[in-house]
Amino acid sequence: MCGIVGYIGSKNTTEILMDGLKELEYRGYDSTGIALLDNDKIEVYKALGKLKNLEQKISDANVGENHFLGIGHTRWATHGKPTELNAHPHLGEYSYVVHNGIIENYKEIKDKLIQDGHKFISQTDTEVIVHLFENYYNNSNDTKEAFQKTIADLKGAYSILLISKVQPDSIFFFKHGSPLIVAKGKEEKEVLFSSTDAPLIGLADDVVYLEDGMGGIASPAGIEFFSDEITWSTLPQSKQYAQKDGFRFFMEKEIYEQHDVITDSMLGRLQDDQIHFDEFDAKIIEGIDEIKICACGTSYHAALTASYLFERLSKIRCSVEIASEFRYKEPLMSKKTLFVVISQSGETADTLEALKMAKKAGLKSIVVCNVDNSSMTRLGDVTVLTRAGIEKGVASTKAFSTQTVVLWMMALYFAKFKNAISQDKLNSEIFALREVPKALIVCDKMHEKTRRLSKRYLHGHGFFFIGRDVFFPLALEGALKLKEISYLHAEGYPAGEMKHGPIALADPELFTIALMPQNLHYDKIKSNVEELSARDSTICSISPLDFELSDDFIKTNKTDHYMLEFFEMLVALQLLSMEISVRLGNDVDMPRNLAKSVTVE
Ligand code: G6P
Repeated sequence: MCGIVGYIGSKNTTEILMDGLKELEYRGYDSTGIALLDNDKIEVYKALGKLKNLEQKISDANVGENHFLGIGHTRWATHGKPTELNAHPHLGEYSYVVHNGIIENYKEIKDKLIQDGHKFISQTDTEVIVHLFENYYNNSNDTKEAFQKTIADLKGAYSILLISKVQPDSIFFFKHGSPLIVAKGKEEKEVLFSSTDAPLIGLADDVVYLEDGMGGIASPAGIEFFSDEITWSTLPQSKQYAQKDGFRFFMEKEIYEQHDVITDSMLGRLQDDQIHFDEFDAKIIEGIDEIKICACGTSYHAALTASYLFERLSKIRCSVEIASEFRYKEPLMSKKTLFVVISQSGETADTLEALKMAKKAGLKSIVVCNVDNSSMTRLGDVTVLTRAGIEKGVASTKAFSTQTVVLWMMALYFAKFKNAISQDKLNSEIFALREVPKALIVCDKMHEKTRRLSKRYLHGHGFFFIGRDVFFPLALEGALKLKEISYLHAEGYPAGEMKHGPIALADPELFTIALMPQNLHYDKIKSNVEELSARDSTICSISPLDFELSDDFIKTNKTDHYMLEFFEMLVALQLLSMEISVRLGNDVDMPRNLAKSVTVE
């Protein structure tokens, strides 16, 4: 959801900005751009689409190394189409700005500025920032005052870097809502900015994760913050490079490595006949009569899965809300509710805001997250890291499996504390947990089968993914994966609900992907699939058991636990959507219109 970088120093500025943007490209790839300042000369390069297009432009233009300051941006379009004109950095008359977020009141600011004679060339909300700054500067000749007045006028979510010919040694910065980190470079007089840690690793040791309302002015002379409450932190120095390691796509690599990373997710948390979390003790649920989980996208599907597990195993009432809905429904919040948010990135704006609301209402909170030091991990009372490692594919895979396993362990941990589970049952659950890595191994036969199926499952008027119980959220996740990277219409549905409407769509052109686990309500789902088969829907069942009415079949292994079936079916769904996407010639890792981290609401 847009990524921004900034640099002041004597190294090759273009190289540092471009390397930084490479790390942030997953946040949006509609366009990219950089502005380089050398004394009072500003050079700007922008390109539509992915970073490689900008790289080409920069190489064609033979951009020199002698810029001592610059800012860069990779965009996920919110206001204004993805065009070169709408690409950041945006220019006023003598200043440039990059921005991550949304300026909600841009229209009224823009109208006023137009009346004052300012000329706008883009359709973005961002352009008002730079004009507003220049408007104030023209009246006062004071850059600091102009920047602060600009910020005071903006409503919405934003992190901003602004440079100007009138103060050519400085970067003006501010954070409100969207993430921004400022860092002291390893070399003297060096300052860096970035939306996340990754671009800074190796270049800086000391960083400030800016809180909302923090900003300042950086120059070789140092960093002047507008407020005194600054906390410097040490940046972890081990850079985990994400490489494709011989796989065609990051998504493929991430599907294949699930069985490995899941072991990390369980490390230290699974002990003989106990579950243990270093991050919190079970007292966190003392006095709690409900768990409420908020999340978005794939993380929301992990939340739904967990709601079955919390109720079934821990005997704690559990409700799940889509974060963007939760925020504006005027939710009733009770201090007897444990508030859990789930997020791969820890930056999703809606989930972050939901967490802020819960904190404000005095609820205890747990953040289940993959990215340490992210906004959510810094805000929650307790963080439980999922330890999936960097996930690059925009379609989330290993984030989901690791979230689900962590939440399953949490359900068992609470169950034990509440005496809601017998030791025998706990032992058998732990036994199953230990088998999860095996269930996530991609077997060649299954991959080959999904490759073959992808030839047939391309044409038609849509897909229904159906399942019951935890296999319903899994069906939602299967449908989401397909939509995200294949652009085919797909819906996840509770199998038992098909008869209340959607079955009207059934015909041979409707593909039904039926999740038919042996260990959970097999007969029930079988009847639902039979109903669809009787109406001629084309059916692909995923199951360890043969089902004579299926047109196609992906066979999973026989196991004793439905969650092991769950994980194996997850892999089958991920592979199927990936292979269909490949066959359609789509960009698997960077599907159109999406971004990995959505920091606007
Ligand atoms: C975006 C991503 C999804 C992700 C969702 C929530 O839409 O493309 O893959 O599931 O955000 O992200 P989070 O980082 O909060 O899990």
